[in-house]
Amino acid sequence: MIPVEALRVVGGSRLSGEVAVTGAKNSVLKLMAAALLAPGRTVLSDVPEILDVEIMAELLRRLGCHVVHDCAAGTVAIDVPEALEHRADYDLVRRMRASITVLGPLLARCGVVDVALPGGDNIGSRGLDMHIGGLQRMGAEVTSEHGYLIARAGSGLHGATVWLDFPSVGATETLLMAAVTARGRTVIDNAAREPEIVDICTMLVEMGASIDGVGTSTLEIEGVESLAPVAHATVADRIVAGTWAVAAAITRGDITVRRAQPAHLEIALDKLVTAGASVTTLDDGFRVVMEARPRAVDIVTLPYPGFPTDLQPQFIALNAIADGAALVTENLFEARFRFVHELVRLGADVQTEGHHALVRGREALSGAPVEATDIRAGAGLVLAGLVADGETTVHEVHHIDRGYAGFVDDLQRLGADISRIDLPG
Ligand code: UD1
Repeated sequence: MIPVEALRVVGGSRLSGEVAVTGAKNSVLKLMAAALLAPGRTVLSDVPEILDVEIMAELLRRLGCHVVHDCAAGTVAIDVPEALEHRADYDLVRRMRASITVLGPLLARCGVVDVALPGGDNIGSRGLDMHIGGLQRMGAEVTSEHGYLIARAGSGLHGATVWLDFPSVGATETLLMAAVTARGRTVIDNAAREPEIVDICTMLVEMGASIDGVGTSTLEIEGVESLAPVAHATVADRIVAGTWAVAAAITRGDITVRRAQPAHLEIALDKLVTAGASVTTLDDGFRVVMEARPRAVDIVTLPYPGFPTDLQPQFIALNAIADGAALVTENLFEARFRFVHELVRLGADVQTEGHHALVRGREALSGAPVEATDIRAGAGLVLAGLVADGETTVHEVHHIDRGYAGFVDDLQRLGADISRIDLPG
């Protein structure tokens, strides 16, 4: 039997101290894909040491790039050749949905792309209709064969106006990267406005792209002939920063989060204030202090600048030990409440009905074995374990490793009783 790793958490410690966040997973993966648009060397900094970066690096290598991930320096150097391969294989794509991000840049560079239909997080159906519809408007022919999405634009892509039904992060990125070198003007209406979208727009503009309306819901892109490689620093990970903020609140602790941008977390931090925390904004981050039992807070997830779905499980964990009851509404991913079954194993009182969860706060949770069902669910379960009585074992820890660099070390330094353990496979 091959041992599998799990996290063992013993609840009861009050977390206090300082922690620094690195660049955002959800940005760096897209920046790596954007590098494909320009032959030559792109260097990204503030790159987190997480598995998904390795998967994306391997994907780029198979497309013909030379990629060096220097973990100590937190950089990724990508040498992009003049001629790229245009096929992203199933064995990598199935491990990480964000692989789909190569769709736009490969189509722009090669005029044809085959990308295996993605897997990734277990949090809902996660369709591609808006990616496909937008590319078709820009002149691509898109088919699906043998588990691959095949897009062709024999005579190149042209500008078009695309109205997204929903401000999808992924579709906005695909269309943006397809549009920057398309002939003429593309307008993406109802575009996503997440800080990670702003980060990719910033890098594309540095590369020579012409994009108006960055950070708004209407992106206007004038196609340019070619782009040049650049050096670019990744935007701070607001979801990791937000997870530390909840860690302070749930353990009645005191955590200073450095290298974070509180402006990207306004609603989440405001919810913590409603829950009873004191939140101080600093030059390079923020500090969250909680002295008493948190009060329950209602949550409604929405596209940015609404409350992020990627912090929903962490806030359900907080509500599980809060004073009062809270209604949590999930509007983005239908299967994101799957982790609630695990939280209930820790004694939480949560009832779900469609996309609503009613959480009745309990005085205490009680440690038990649980399973992480996706990255953020894993983080939520660790937070719950920190306040559960006795020992909690979080299985399927690889999900957490996909999004949180050095999570266990940081938790230990803040005073948590947590360790990695090997279990029989
Ligand atoms: C990204 C993030 C994820 C975050 C999410 C919302 C990455 C790697 N992942 O995911 O962590 O939770 O944004 O902030 O950056 N949809 C369609 N058709 C489409 C596109 C999307 O139906 O063509 C649906 C999806 O099924 C999902 C919802 O729209 O229910 C949100 O998807 P989207 O905003 O595209 O999120 P992702 O880019 O997948």
